[in-house]
This record gives sequence, structure tokens and C-alpha cells, in this order.
Amino acid sequence: MDKITVGIIGSGAMGAGIAQVVAQAGHPVFLFDLNAAALQRATTGISASLRKLAEKGKLPAAEAEAAIARVRPCAELQCFAACGLVIEAIVEELAVKQAVFRDVEAVVPAECVLASNTSSLSLASIASACQRPERFIGIHFFNPAPLMQLVEVIPAVQTRAGLAEETRALVQSWGKLPVICQDTPGFIVNRVARPYYGEALRLLDEGVADAATIDWALTELGGFRMGPFALMDFIGHDVNYRVTEAVFTAFYFDPRFKPSLTQKRLFEAGYYGRKAGRGFYDYREGATPPEPTRDPALGHRILQRVLAMLINEAADALHLRVASRDDLELAMTRGVNYPKGLLAWADELGLPAVLNTLDALYEEYREDRYRASPLLRRLATAGQTFFPAPALSHS
Ligand SMILES: NC(=O)c1ccc[n+]([C@@H]2O[C@H](COP(=O)([O-])OP(=O)(O)OC[C@H]3O[C@@H](n4cnc5c(N)ncnc54)[C@H](O)[C@@H]3O)[C@@H](O)[C@H]2O)c1
Repeated sequence: MDKITVGIIGSGAMGAGIAQVVAQAGHPVFLFDLNAAALQRATTGISASLRKLAEKGKLPAAEAEAAIARVRPCAELQCFAACGLVIEAIVEELAVKQAVFRDVEAVVPAECVLASNTSSLSLASIASACQRPERFIGIHFFNPAPLMQLVEVIPAVQTRAGLAEETRALVQSWGKLPVICQDTPGFIVNRVARPYYGEALRLLDEGVADAATIDWALTELGGFRMGPFALMDFIGHDVNYRVTEAVFTAFYFDPRFKPSLTQKRLFEAGYYGRKAGRGFYDYREGATPPEPTRDPALGHRILQRVLAMLINEAADALHLRVASRDDLELAMTRGVNYPKGLLAWADELGLPAVLNTLDALYEEYREDRYRASPLLRRLATAGQTFFPAPALSHS
């Protein structure tokens, strides 16, 4: 069966990456951008990246060339006339995205699926501009799209029944790991991961430990790949602070998602992190990285607190049916490479222990930020776990 033709709007970091994924999966791709230079950069970049894969022996050279030939840059939306799917990856501005979808709908066939790669806007708000919002859905890739396996599939309230599952199957056929989640702020990853930054910042602000020590605790004792401060510096405070602020605002200022003034100041100063040469750490030539205080008792206290907050967020996302238990675990292990799924980790630690940590924080601070999710409390109180206990072997 012929693969559907895919149109991609926006050929920046995400659009180019998505075009590569889709072309590699065998779909003819039309790549559109208003900016001719961006379009040129994207096509050159896609060719270089596919040829590099071939050089490394990760892709037969003929397949790389075939994928390159499948990507056709275009300067007019008219190119999308035969598309079965259009994915938008342009600037993160609601009015601009809505206008683009209005124009796209005038060109594409009635059955063409329309998707947005938005990170922070609600899919319902973008879909509301469409004539046929029932064919609209979110397909949220992670950066860089060719490397990151996780893809969040987000049906809007207007999306027709069945489209989420069809989209999941399609994305899976591209060799990706799709998860389905509700149209809620941050979807799965950008919601559940917030305390990794937020609670680490809180510990820093309170002077419990410095950035290097907190990073040490989470990597050495917790098994996370990067400590929160090194990771924020890597992501860039312009991006990471803005996401935190957007999620906080979208959740009606729930204190669980409250941004940190310390991070805001770095953002305001232009100390964006690695790319600016300065963030929490100094990346300028000759700078010496600070040494952590390798105190196991302090380290465990830091890990326990950040982990309890992360688990609480995952539990609450399950409680509010943002995603299934398995999709939540998949998202955090494959999307942000957590060493374990947070719910399985909670089972391992014992739910009463996690609940005690949260309740002690709540008692100490009297802040709503530390309220335990009702689901966590219910399971812990009933002596239950998130996952069924493994069957005993009778060998
Ligand atoms: N960068 C990330 O880490 C990341 C991850 C997931 C999702 N996203 C989302 O993906 C989208 C794109 O992000 P990006 O980082 O690739 O941005 P980018 O700035 O790298 O690229 C955006 C591209 O869209 C083009 N563009 C802008 N308005 C347009 C229009 N009206 N019509 C056609 N082209 C237009 C620009 O010329 C530019 O080339 C955003 O919605 C963003 O929130 C970004």
C-alpha cells in the first residue's frame, strides 16, 4: 500500500527533524516554510544527517538517498493538495498557528488529518480555528526528533473517536514510541518532570545544598543521567523557565508548579546556560567546575525529597487520567531517560514511605505545594501498589 503523503509546516529544528523521521519511514514529504533560508538550511541538514547515518553504517546508503529524494521543499501551501497528514511545527503563537490551519484547510483533502507539534498551547484552542476540528490532533515530538523515541499523541476535545489510536499506530510504524495523553498543560513529560527542576531549585533557594551537591545526589545516588542544574543549563533557562512559567499559569497558579525567582534572574540576565557560557555553572574557558559536598546523609535527604515530588506528580497525573499507568512510565523512562518509571519506583520505595515524606514536608511548610495526590494516599493507606506484585514462582 502506498504511504500517505505528509505535509510539514515550519522547517526549523522540529520541522526538519520530523521531516527526516517521516521520510525515513517511506512517506513522500512536502516541507513548507515562509522563510526560504530556513527551508534551504533544513533540506541541506536533512541530507547531511541521513548521509551521516549511512556513513556510520546505521542506514543503507540507498535508503538514505531514497529518503532524501522523498523530501520536497515547497514555497506554497498548494503543494499540500494531496496530503493525508499535515504536521505543523511553526512558532509557538496561537493566532499564527490558527491562521496557518485556516489556510491549510482550504488546500488539503477533506479527510486529511491535521496535527500540531505545539509544546504549550492547548490543542482545543488551535482546533477551534478549523472547519473540521474532528480531524485535528496533537503529535508532540521531542528534540531532536530523529533521535528521541517518545512521541506524545494528544487528542483535542473536538478530535473524532478513533483518531488517537490510528495516530498512535502510524507513529509506531515510524519506529517511535507513542503515548496517548490528555490535552492538559505540559502533556505528560513537561508536567511530570517539573519537580525535578522545581524542587531542586527550592532546595538551592533554601540553602540546603549548592547546585553541584544537588546534582551529585540525583546522579550518583539517584541514577539520573544529568543533575537538575546541569540539565537546566543544557536545556537553556530561556526555554526551561518559560515552560515552567507557562505550565504554572495554565494550571491556574497551582503552587506545585511555582517557578523560581533564582532561575528567573538567570533568564533575565541572559545567563541561559551552556549556550551562553554561563548559567548555574560557569562554562567559560578556564572555569573550574565546583566540587559537590559528598555527604551521603545530605545526598539521600535531597534525593528523597525530589523523588517524592516527582512520584507525587506522576501519581496525580494518573489520578486525573492524563495518561495510562504504562504510558506514564514509558514517557518518563524513554522521553527523559529516567532510570526507572516513577510509579514502579514508588512501589519499590514503598508507598507509605513516599507519602510520609510528602506529609512531613506539608506539615513543615504548610504549603499546598506539598499536598499528596489522593491516589497515592489511597493506595498507601490500603496497603496497595501501582503495579500488581509479581507472581511468586513455584520452581
Ligand atoms: N525546540 C524544541 O525543543 C521543541 C520540542 C517540541 C515541540 N516544539 C514545538 O515545535 C514548534 C516549532 O519549534 P522549533 O523549535 O522547531 O522552532 P524554530 O524557530 O526552530 O522553527 C520554526 C520555523 O517555522 C517557520 N515559520 C514561522 N511562522 C510560519 C508560518 N506562518 N508559516 C510557515 N512557516 C513559519 C520559521 O520560519 C521557522 O523556520 C513550536 O510549536 C514548539 O513549541 C519545540
